[in-house]
Amino acid sequence: MTRASAPGKIILFGEHAVVYGRPALAVPVTQVHADVEVTAAPRRGIWIHAPDVNLHAELASLSADHPLGAAIRSVFGPHPRPLSRFRERGGGEGIEINISSTIPVASGLGSGAAVTVALLRALSSFLLRSLSFDEVNSLAYEIEKLHHGTPSGIDNTVITYARPVYFIKGQPIETFTVGAPFTIVIGDTGIRAPTKESVGDVRKLWEADQARWEKVFDEVGEIAKSAREKIERGKKKEELGALMNANHALLQEMTVSSLELDRLIVAARVAGALGAKLSGGGRGGNMIALVEKESAPAVAEALMSAGAKRTIITEVI
Ligand code: PMV
Repeated sequence: MTRASAPGKIILFGEHAVVYGRPALAVPVTQVHADVEVTAAPRRGIWIHAPDVNLHAELASLSADHPLGAAIRSVFGPHPRPLSRFRERGGGEGIEINISSTIPVASGLGSGAAVTVALLRALSSFLLRSLSFDEVNSLAYEIEKLHHGTPSGIDNTVITYARPVYFIKGQPIETFTVGAPFTIVIGDTGIRAPTKESVGDVRKLWEADQARWEKVFDEVGEIAKSAREKIERGKKKEELGALMNANHALLQEMTVSSLELDRLIVAARVAGALGAKLSGGGRGGNMIALVEKESAPAVAEALMSAGAKRTIITEVI
């Protein structure tokens, strides 16, 4: 049997503008993860079990654009070796793939990319076909396109490398170091919001008035750059919080916040957060608040009272 696991992620700064070439910052969240187990099975075929999404199917029954099917086929490659070659690994004619995840879906925590990365790693190691980080990342990016249409690639990158990432679409991977650990409280609105829709709506705004939105994206890009510097220096958390608030105001302008997100963001600030913003595609999903470690439980409680369905306290290191 082979196993692999991949973390969730949050975007700290720069979502949406990153689709238009501006930098964004994302970090892994290890409190939630996707897990994949691959075993040799007596029955013929490649069987996929993903109870969280109620899927129990043989690979051949999944359409070409099904993300799980596409990820599995991408590991087998264009010239699959016969499964019988792996018989000695368990005496079976087939393979069972078990997928589970504690990452809430469609909520900005990267559940799709984490499942893909764990699946690519578990299956490739079962097939004795080792994949480099870069190979996993580029295969996962192809699968992200099936989920999102025109993804920037930030999710698959931060999840593959499991390190803080300074991401610019189409440029070589840049990880960065955190000067002094800091604490983030994540609050889930419980509302599932497909990233594809908010990305599509921002595109419509941009198409209608490119000059205006390019300026807004520039501002977001400057915020992300300056946030990276502050995080690397590990000083002036208040200033990092102010940058979060400024980034959120620009996301509101892009129409990707929502009443529920704004309610949680205000509640976090009132409860003592240094700054707060939505994280990911928006319209629902998660918000994040930068807090002093000691005030994390109080901020998490305030978020629950303001309607959050769950909270996660995570240390960015
Ligand atoms: O909703 P998430 O966490 O998958 O984040 C999407 C981030 C966007 O910038 C909105 C889209 C993208 O592809 O980068």
